[in-house]
Amino acid sequence: MRLILVLAALPTLAWAAPAADLANLEREAAGLIPAFQQQLMQTVKQAVAEGGPVQAVQACHLLAPTIAAEHSQQPWTVGRTALRLRNPDNQPDAWERQVLEDFLLRQSAGEEPTQMSASAVVDGEFRYMKAIATGEPCLACHGQAIKAEVAAQIKQDYPEDQASGFSLGELRGAFTLRRTLTEATP
Ligand code: HEC
Repeated sequence: MRLILVLAALPTLAWAAPAADLANLEREAAGLIPAFQQQLMQTVKQAVAEGGPVQAVQACHLLAPTIAAEHSQQPWTVGRTALRLRNPDNQPDAWERQVLEDFLLRQSAGEEPTQMSASAVVDGEFRYMKAIATGEPCLACHGQAIKAEVAAQIKQDYPEDQASGFSLGELRGAFTLRRTLTEATP
């Protein structure tokens, strides 16, 4: 009887510390998103104000990858991904694809994308994703009625574009963050 109790207690002991670490890592990852998101939004808004939506597409094209790189401060890498992509460089890897497909299923079941996130340890890395919903200002470039001149600019910069036709509130993609685990992994 005593032996059984000891064995039953083992998994709890073994996982107690990592579980706490993972919760901290999740908080840390989630905390990096607002500044990244704000800078992307600010860049688009400013470009729209200065030169209209066509110029804003060009600004996104030029600046989105740089903004992601700027917010990727050691040890974190920050980016965006989606199942229907505009920039093929944002292609999801196997774990990201699985999470995005799960987000899609949860959306079909009635869950709001704004509430969805996921985390895991994959091949020695901590991974975190947070769903991105299609908001009102996104429709000009990702919606169902994109102006002809905007669509033409998108086509020019992204000949393979699959990221239009979204409706308000729909899952557009996700923020994706990763960092190598060294000291935190047992
Ligand atoms: C002015 C046009 C424009 C607006 C407005 C816009 N986007 Fe984009 N979006 C783009 C372009 C261009 C890219 C490709 C950026 C790159 O090259 O990395 C992109 C890429 C993305 C990506 C990365 C995945 C992919 O498909 O490459 C996500 C996610 C995304 N947009 C979501 C949004 C959301 C959510 C909003 C509203 C808050 C929004 N976008 C508003 C033009 C726009």
